[in-house]
Amino acid sequence: MKAVIELRDVRLAYGAHVVLNGITFSVHRGETLCVLGGSGVGKSTILKLILCLESMDSGSVTVLGHDLCSAGRSEIFKVRQRMGMVFQGSALFDSLPIFDNVAFALFEHTDLPLETIRERVREALAFVDLDFERVGEMLPSELSGGMKKRVAIARAIVHQPEILLFDEPTSGLDPITTRKIDTLIVKLRQELGVSSIVVTHDTQSACRIANRVALLQAGDIIFMGTPQQMLAAENPYIREYLE
Ligand SMILES: Nc1ncnc2c1ncn2[C@@H]1O[C@H](COP(=O)(O)OP(=O)(O)OP(=O)(O)O)[C@@H](O)[C@H]1O
Ligand SMILES: [Mg+2]
Repeated sequence: MKAVIELRDVRLAYGAHVVLNGITFSVHRGETLCVLGGSGVGKSTILKLILCLESMDSGSVTVLGHDLCSAGRSEIFKVRQRMGMVFQGSALFDSLPIFDNVAFALFEHTDLPLETIRERVREALAFVDLDFERVGEMLPSELSGGMKKRVAIARAIVHQPEILLFDEPTSGLDPITTRKIDTLIVKLRQELGVSSIVVTHDTQSACRIANRVALLQAGDIIFMGTPQQMLAAENPYIREYLE
């Protein structure tokens, strides 16, 4: 299978604090990889490296065949447009209505006519089971936490990206809403063929949605395999993490 994201021997430290100590992994086309690990272990940092929002000390990150270390600004910009990101805590623009939040990338990076943008926003909202007519003019503060997450997903898919990065998409949500978001992530893979990395603290969610799971600890990937392999693993740290 072809890799759409590849990290090789990536090292990153903040001063004396080594966050990533030479990690290597890849994500295949059409695959969902879940990244698990304790707080502060470097999960969000990995997503930032893939988006080129952070720079590493050594190693390489290749996205859709582009080596991000040697890429110039315009190449990085083009690669970024082929990705969508759902940020930790949704990160919607509080003062903008839902329509403008979801349409943001299309207004910023395309010259599509307003009618086409409206249609794309309508489709993206329908994909996450939200009604454009009902929520389009509402402000984020008028929505529940689960609806905000769904809007954040609509915003991330509106420009039809090949890769989606999710940073804790279900944290703070109740179990039923969590399952709805999990179902959406699987639907994105099955219906749109999107490749994704999902950072999560929720092992049950990871087992429901992942093709493979990576477990980070103290700067290293200490496990990489299918959810079934993880559940059967005998490594004491993995057992402790799962319990
Ligand atoms: N700009 C920065 N300067 C200094 N240290 C940083 C910076 N960004 C992140 N860190 C540190 O790097 C480590 C990894 O941070 P990161 O946000 O990737 O963790 P995380 O695994 O996503 O944690 P959480 O589960 O709490 O979201 C943390 O210890 C954090 O304090
Ligand atoms: Mg984080």
